[in-house]
Amino acid sequence: MAISSPTMNVMVRAVERAAKGLVRDFGEVENLQVSRKGPADFVSQADTKSEKTLVAELRKARPEYGFVLEESNEIPSQDGRHRFLVDPLDGTTNFLHGIPHFSISVGLERDGEIVAGVVYNPITMELYRAEKGQGAYLNDRRIRVSGRRELTASVIGTGIPHHGLGDPERFSQELSHLMPRVAGVRRMGSAALDLAYVAAGRFEGYWEFGLNPWDIAAGIILVTEAGGYVTEVGGGRSPLRGGSVLAANAGLHIHLGKILRSAGEAAAKQRESRERLDKASAGHLEGGSA
Ligand code: IPD
Ligand code: CA
Ligand code: CA
Repeated sequence: MAISSPTMNVMVRAVERAAKGLVRDFGEVENLQVSRKGPADFVSQADTKSEKTLVAELRKARPEYGFVLEESNEIPSQDGRHRFLVDPLDGTTNFLHGIPHFSISVGLERDGEIVAGVVYNPITMELYRAEKGQGAYLNDRRIRVSGRRELTASVIGTGIPHHGLGDPERFSQELSHLMPRVAGVRRMGSAALDLAYVAAGRFEGYWEFGLNPWDIAAGIILVTEAGGYVTEVGGGRSPLRGGSVLAANAGLHIHLGKILRSAGEAAAKQRESRERLDKASAGHLEGGSA
C-alpha cells in the first residue's frame, strides 16, 4: 500500500476531480467526430476547464505554491520554493480524435528539484504516482522499470515530429537505426503516459525531442523512483530544460543513448552533404547564367 504525504493526497484529489470533467467531455467528443468542423473548439474548452479545476483545487490546499501551466501564464510562488507543473490534458490529439489514450500530469518542484508527480489516465483509471525516496506506484501497486537487458526483446516509446515542428530528418535516422534492433517502437501520443509506461516496465525505454516541462515533470520522477534513468538524449542531466528526454532501465539507457546519438550524427552528415550539393548546384547555375 502506497504511503502518501498530505501534498500527494492534494495532488491526487485535484487530478481525480479534473479527470471527471475530461471523461464527460471525451464522451461528447466521440459524438462530435461526424460534424464538419470536428470537436476542436470543444476540446480546447475541455483542456482549459481541466486546467482551471486543477489550479482551483491545488490552490485551495497550497495557496503559497506557484504554477507552471500549459494553457495560461505562470503563477509565481509566494514561498519562493514550490511550483506545480501542470499539463491538464496530455494527448490532446488522441482526445480530439476519440482515441482513449490521454492523461493529466502534475509534477511538484521544490527548490528547483522535482519531488513528486502524478499521471492519471482517466479512461483506464490508472493513476501513477511517485514521491522522492518513496518509490513509484500504479494505483496501489509498487512499480519497477523493466528488467529486460536485451534490446531485441525491448519495446521503445517515442514521439514523432509533427506540424512542421522538430527535426523529421533526424527522427527518420533514429528510427532506421533503432528499428532493426528492437522488438517494437510505439508512438502512443501522451508523453506523460510514455514515461509512466517506462516506470511500470511496459516500455523498456522512451525518447522524444521538443517537449515542455509540464509534459515530463511528473513522468521523470515516476521513472527515477521506479529505478530507471532519465537524461537528455545527448546525455545531459537536465531533461526538464534541455529539450529532449531519454528514459530507460539502467542496462539499456547507455545502449539507447549511443544508437540515438549516432543517428543524430548521421542526420547531421546527411544535412551537410545536402547543403554542399545545394551550394555547388547554385554556384553552377550562377556560373552557367553569367
Ligand atoms: C503532446 C503529447 C505528445 C507529444 C507532443 C506533446 P499535448 O502534448 O505529449 O505525446 O508527442 O510533443 O506536445 O499537446 O497533447 O499536451
Ligand atoms: Ca503535453
Ligand atoms: Ca496539454
